[in-house]
Amino acid sequence: MRKMTYASLVTLSVLVAGWIAGGCSSTPETDAERQARWTAGNLTSFETENGIGPITEDTQLAAADPSRAASGQDIFIKKCATCHYLDHKKTGPMLRDVTKRRSAQYVLNQILNPEQMGKMHPDGRKLVAQYAQFMTIQGITRENAEDLLNFLRSEAGKPALPIEQQPGFGTPPPPAGQ
Ligand code: HEC
Repeated sequence: MRKMTYASLVTLSVLVAGWIAGGCSSTPETDAERQARWTAGNLTSFETENGIGPITEDTQLAAADPSRAASGQDIFIKKCATCHYLDHKKTGPMLRDVTKRRSAQYVLNQILNPEQMGKMHPDGRKLVAQYAQFMTIQGITRENAEDLLNFLRSEAGKPALPIEQQPGFGTPPPPAGQ
């Protein structure tokens, strides 16, 4: 009887150990687990480099497409120029060369997940402190974000323009506190 119990215990431990090991390697992290990890400040090296949000290591990005840049410019004028110009600081930083200093995934995560980027990503937190403002936008789809990325990539490295030639020049900044 005692022998049996010992044997069953060993079998059980082996099964549990196997289940844990198997579970750790094959069960994907749930959204809740990921949020808890970000809240605790435990970012992976991928997330430190590429931001936190819907764009993960596994995401395949569409190839750079100049025809989407024009659509990106329209969206930029409607949704971003309230706070950003390419070559002049406004409510937020200038964005001409943002695709040179940040990875494509980082830019997409910033556009698709600005609140958590500003609260939980070390670089986002620095910028929020510097600009004393969170980036807020609504109604941006993944497709819009990729168009914007194409626009920003197509503008990177070009000479700076005078303020009155900035895309969306004259768009009023958001009211204070928003
Ligand atoms: C309400 C103002 C506001 C709007 C609208 C806004 N942003 Fe921002 N953005 C900010 C602020 C403030 C920061 C810096 C703080 C932060 O990173 O959250 C920022 C940061 C960024 C960054 C990171 C820059 C860097 O150097 O890392 C990118 C990229 C960006 N914005 C792109 C966009 C795009 C594209 C849009 C339009 C879809 C947009 N933003 C709309 C205010 C705004």
